[in-house]
Amino acid sequence: MKRRTFFKTAGLGALAANGLLSSCGRGNTSRAAKPDPDFIPDIEINLTAKPGRLQILDGPETGIWHYTGEVIKGDANALTNLPDTWVGPVIKARRGQKMRIYFRNQVDQVSIIHWHGLHVPPEADGHPRYVIKPGGEYVYEFTIMDRPGTYWFHPHPHGKTGPQVYRGLAGLFLVTDEEEEQLNLPAGDHDVPLIIQDRQFSPDNQLIYIQNRMQQMLGFLGDTVLVNGKSGYTLKADTGVYRLRILNGSNSRIYKLAWQDGTPMTVIGTDGGLLKEPVTRPFLTLGPAERFDVIADFSDRHPGDELKLVSLPIPGVDAGMGMMGRGMMGGTNRNVPENGAAFDISRVKITHKANNRFQLPSKLSDFEPLSAQDATNSNEPRRFEFAMGRHMQWTINGRTFEMTDVADYEKVKLNTTEIWEFINAGGDMGMMGGMMNMPHPVHIHGLQFKIFDRQIDPRFAAAWDALKDGVVDHGRKDSFLLLPGARVQVALRFEDFSGLYLYHCHNLEHEDMGMMRNYRIESG
Ligand code: C2O
Ligand code: CU
Ligand code: CU
Repeated sequence: MKRRTFFKTAGLGALAANGLLSSCGRGNTSRAAKPDPDFIPDIEINLTAKPGRLQILDGPETGIWHYTGEVIKGDANALTNLPDTWVGPVIKARRGQKMRIYFRNQVDQVSIIHWHGLHVPPEADGHPRYVIKPGGEYVYEFTIMDRPGTYWFHPHPHGKTGPQVYRGLAGLFLVTDEEEEQLNLPAGDHDVPLIIQDRQFSPDNQLIYIQNRMQQMLGFLGDTVLVNGKSGYTLKADTGVYRLRILNGSNSRIYKLAWQDGTPMTVIGTDGGLLKEPVTRPFLTLGPAERFDVIADFSDRHPGDELKLVSLPIPGVDAGMGMMGRGMMGGTNRNVPENGAAFDISRVKITHKANNRFQLPSKLSDFEPLSAQDATNSNEPRRFEFAMGRHMQWTINGRTFEMTDVADYEKVKLNTTEIWEFINAGGDMGMMGGMMNMPHPVHIHGLQFKIFDRQIDPRFAAAWDALKDGVVDHGRKDSFLLLPGARVQVALRFEDFSGLYLYHCHNLEHEDMGMMRNYRIESG
């Protein structure tokens, strides 16, 4: 009822074809394609995407793509290549530092890098309109303005993000500052990334990706969980305290991450950096692209102990998809565990004693509140409905991605705070009916928002009930899981940069199908 009116209104916006104009005016490729002599970087990095081969499973090596990098100016520790894996490198920078990154594309498809979660100018954000050809180079220049925390980077060419991330292109971008350093959080080999991804391998150990449009609609799910690009990943640890930087780098799988023995998770940070104070959760809800910084204290453990990180079952998260949907897909995916299936993720093996006396501070970080009261549209939030469209196509407000298209309701003003409301309307309207009730991991580029309200349609309560105790909305976020029947309100502030940014579903197959749109920040 409501929905029909809404779509009609949204349709009118399509008449305003000003997307093109904006791309000529602001989408200035040359600005970022060559280094700016007036920009003096603190850190300069070469980062190359290229094909390679890796021993991942026993037997033949797996053909992969990966990023490798080197620091050419500034602190040599600003970049670490992780050995024998496709994930990485890990880039580390301080707030306020100026970065120049030369991205070189040596894979045989167009590509571009997006710095997921970082607040950078539009021309440094990796919008698909900036893709470079094989052999090409793109120069990124930006100042780190972000709060200390765990960000990441990955390719963002339209229609190819899913397969490129899948083949191995993804790294971490860690930000620190003085405030964080005073906390003396676990560092060095006690600061450990845990990048969780799922994959599927052929009998000769080659990566298998989606095979057809039906699989694309559902999103890729693998049967093998890899951590940091390794199957059966084991962290060898002492009895000290660790900072685990957990990223769900999977294309579409959701995890309900827990210590198998029930030890609670101590969370110090989420997508947008450190929380004000630590919180504990029985488990962590990790939709694609979400991050958690966790403190793991092994001081009660003993050498020889083994702990397991598992993903607990999530009943109902793939409602309607599980049986009918996945069954229909055919092909190799048929025997793959459904989204929400239980998995072993990794192990921690305590190898020796340590006298690490780390005390977790009760206050972590101070930052300005971002509150709904400051919003210019508190009475009528902008609404974004994530749903299956009439033509078996994932849509946002009935639309799919067009390179520079911006609807009227996708234009916002610089230096304002707004409320955006996201609705997962499932597929009631389509002929597939309830089969299209899938979770959509929503992501907004260019900023960190505050989630301040979540509602769930009681008919879909099962998945939310299974996941809600693992959600942390205290801090800043750039991604969150929009479950079927959910309505989520966020407060966001548009600052510093005007221009074109993306918002999209971070189920990478949905994104590639066009469940992605531009919004434009307009100055004055
Ligand atoms: Cu991590 Cu637009 O994506
Ligand atoms: Cu992003
Ligand atoms: Cu989606």
